[in-house]
Amino acid sequence: MAIRAFPAGFLWGTATSAHQVEGGDDGTDWWDWEQIPGHVKDDSTAMPSCEWFRAGRFLEDFDRARSLSLNAHRLSLEWARIEPREGCWDSAALSYYRRVLAALRDRGLTPLVGLHHFTNPGWIARAGGWESRSTVGYFARYARKVVQALGDLCDFWLTINEPNVYAYSAYIDGTWPPARKDMGAGFQVLANLIRAHALAYRVIHEVQPMARVGAAHHFRYFVAANRSSPLDRLAASVRDYLFNQLFFRALIDGLLRAPMSMGRRLPYAKGTQDFIGINYYFAERVAFDRRNPALLFSRSIVRRWPDWAPSFAGDVSPAGLSRLLGGMRRYGLPICITENGIFDCGGDGQTAYLVSHLAALQRAIVDGAPVAGYFYWTLVDNFEWAEGYAPRFGLFANDLDTQRRRERPSARAYRTIASGNGLPDDLLTRYGRARLASG
Ligand code: FCB
Repeated sequence: MAIRAFPAGFLWGTATSAHQVEGGDDGTDWWDWEQIPGHVKDDSTAMPSCEWFRAGRFLEDFDRARSLSLNAHRLSLEWARIEPREGCWDSAALSYYRRVLAALRDRGLTPLVGLHHFTNPGWIARAGGWESRSTVGYFARYARKVVQALGDLCDFWLTINEPNVYAYSAYIDGTWPPARKDMGAGFQVLANLIRAHALAYRVIHEVQPMARVGAAHHFRYFVAANRSSPLDRLAASVRDYLFNQLFFRALIDGLLRAPMSMGRRLPYAKGTQDFIGINYYFAERVAFDRRNPALLFSRSIVRRWPDWAPSFAGDVSPAGLSRLLGGMRRYGLPICITENGIFDCGGDGQTAYLVSHLAALQRAIVDGAPVAGYFYWTLVDNFEWAEGYAPRFGLFANDLDTQRRRERPSARAYRTIASGNGLPDDLLTRYGRARLASG
């Protein structure tokens, strides 16, 4: 049977984040936010989730990852557990994370560990959060502590997850805590996140010279709704510039080209990535709209994929991933797909999504993109931020009442791919080409 092979040693993994799987993560700003009705769609909280912390269910879930023949897993640490009060380090929390990382290694799963994934310790939030410059120093101190305490178990780090999504949702759109709606604050936060990343990058290398350090960038593939309209093309490129490029490019050349601080120089951010982490989910079609100044005179047109129940923001587009990777070759850095996935809708859409994105990824690798790994979002259904538990992204379903897991068809497909280190053509014929041909 023909197979589209991936490079030897390719990392096959799944991704999770602390707040979304641990349960009872009550020292964070997100926790406080969830307690107020209306903030999360189904008024749920991250209390039960997957019970990794209280009941130690990470062990059984890592067994599941292993059963898929995976060889890596991405997760994040909860800063609020490790430093529940300013300057106070909780050794029990650090021991918990030592057990988690050791459990991964025992199962042959290489850990990729994130330091910040949307949540902040309550004390950080109360001291001004990411609008305050002092958060940068606190973050670097936390990074040092973590690498000193866990560095013998991990040398593969992500500083910050999706700084663009965080700054937009928490400070511009105002749907996440601290729910500000202030574009200036959003850019200020982005600048502080760049500083924090750069400082943490240096601190991690100081403690662990051989570490591989990056950030998980959320890239969206913006296209003009009408390709022959110059205004739609302009609207799409403005979105691309503000959403995809600002943070990312600052890490390449040390310049933040935000509208309200043209040419702000952050030279110590230059060259602070050992690899490029890419979270890619979908494409977004953008049209010029003079009635929408708040969104920089543009609006998104979401085409619903026929079989997909409410898609939460864009168009499924494996081609967008190939394009993105083609453009990344010029930076000469290894690439890791740190997230990619879709929620389950009952049919075989999740498998079709997985297979067609891996086909696009394999094509990009053959064309010269230096991609070293792929982390599917996510291992087990978990708490999906303001959407609550409704979108079920897991390769394994999770019944919140019984905490029973059930393997989905997408997990079986992923097992076939990971165990053979390649995409068999029959999977592609069944799911990829037929279902997503126009993607
Ligand atoms: C990404 C987030 C992750 C999860 C997935 C569905 O943007 O990084 O935490 O919410 O989307």
